[in-house]
Amino acid sequence: MNPAALIPVAEPLPIHWVWFDILLIVTLTAHLLFMNALVGSAAIGLIQSVRGKRDVLRQVGMKLPPLLALTINMGVAPLLFLQVNYGNFDYVSSVLMGGWWFAIVAVLLASYYGFYYCKFQYDSTAPGLRTLLFAASLAGCLYVGFMFTNNMTLMLHPEYWPEYFTAKGGFLNFADATLVSRYLHAMVGALALGGLFIALLGQARDNREFVDLGMTWFTRATLANLAVGIWFLFAQPSAILKAFMGGNVPATATLVASLAAMAVMLLAGFKKQPKQAAVWGTITMFLMVCNRHWLRTLSLEPWFDISTTPVTNQYGSFFLFLGFLVVGLAAIGYMLKLYFTARGRGV
Ligand code: HEM
Repeated sequence: MNPAALIPVAEPLPIHWVWFDILLIVTLTAHLLFMNALVGSAAIGLIQSVRGKRDVLRQVGMKLPPLLALTINMGVAPLLFLQVNYGNFDYVSSVLMGGWWFAIVAVLLASYYGFYYCKFQYDSTAPGLRTLLFAASLAGCLYVGFMFTNNMTLMLHPEYWPEYFTAKGGFLNFADATLVSRYLHAMVGALALGGLFIALLGQARDNREFVDLGMTWFTRATLANLAVGIWFLFAQPSAILKAFMGGNVPATATLVASLAAMAVMLLAGFKKQPKQAAVWGTITMFLMVCNRHWLRTLSLEPWFDISTTPVTNQYGSFFLFLGFLVVGLAAIGYMLKLYFTARGRGV
């Protein structure tokens, strides 16, 4: 079977595709930052708890339900933009995963409930049961992340799609040599930024122990992730590897810029400066998402060229969207201001 026959025809776009790509990259950066704070701080809290130090999990546990809510909310936006530009690949890979993909809704609900229960029944729950609940909720998040890595790699490779006809009820993308390193790259990164989140929490509360612990996780996990990132890069097919090694100038420049940003971020980490590390961490994350976007463009090259998708030039809805975005952000800013002013007054 020719896999190209399985790729649906791209729908016309209302405005130039580049706008959707920009929005996709920006919103995915926000999604991944929240995801990292959630998964990383929960994992570190759990490890500390198993070592008999419960304070981190207790403090972080108060933040996990809102962090999960923000991760999900910030995930909706890139999902929509992804479907606009790359729906003819992403819809197919979602369907091919079948039950594995569908299950993320139920798993997320269960994880959410687990984190909520731990937050509001912390003192009335036995420590062993509490740790188990936290672990199960975190495992749910790890499952969801793994399903996203499966989907985002499967969408890039229509040559794997015909497996659906022999697999029963959906399949995962284990045929892809980049799957494991890509997932580990995301999760070890989460440990680093989760550590940074704990350090920021410590700085806000004048808790030196949290700052030291968080920054130690941040620097060590980042160093480990450098090795995982190199593994991920070298696991790519040779054409993609060559593109990132000078063959494609913008892709290579993005990779070099992201590594430079990571070096500055790491330096701030070693100096134990959580705020500076957070600024450079955000810049590094943005550039890493850009790398990931290059990877998608280069991987899809044999199958799809987005510049050939017809554009109908209906900019009205785009301006309406921008208007609501500006008003929405201003409203959120105003609410945050009220919240912090009230907190300052002890309300
Ligand atoms: C605990 C919950 C979640 C975790 C741990 C998580 C984790 C991840 C990870 C690791 C990736 C990168 C995958 C890769 O490229 O290899 C990712 C991408 C993505 N996530 Fe999430 N995610 C979560 C929830 C959600 C939800 C609920 C949504 C949507 C409603 C969402 C939307 C997305 C989208 C659209 C992408 C990829 C965008 C793109 O490829 O440009 N995520 N997520």
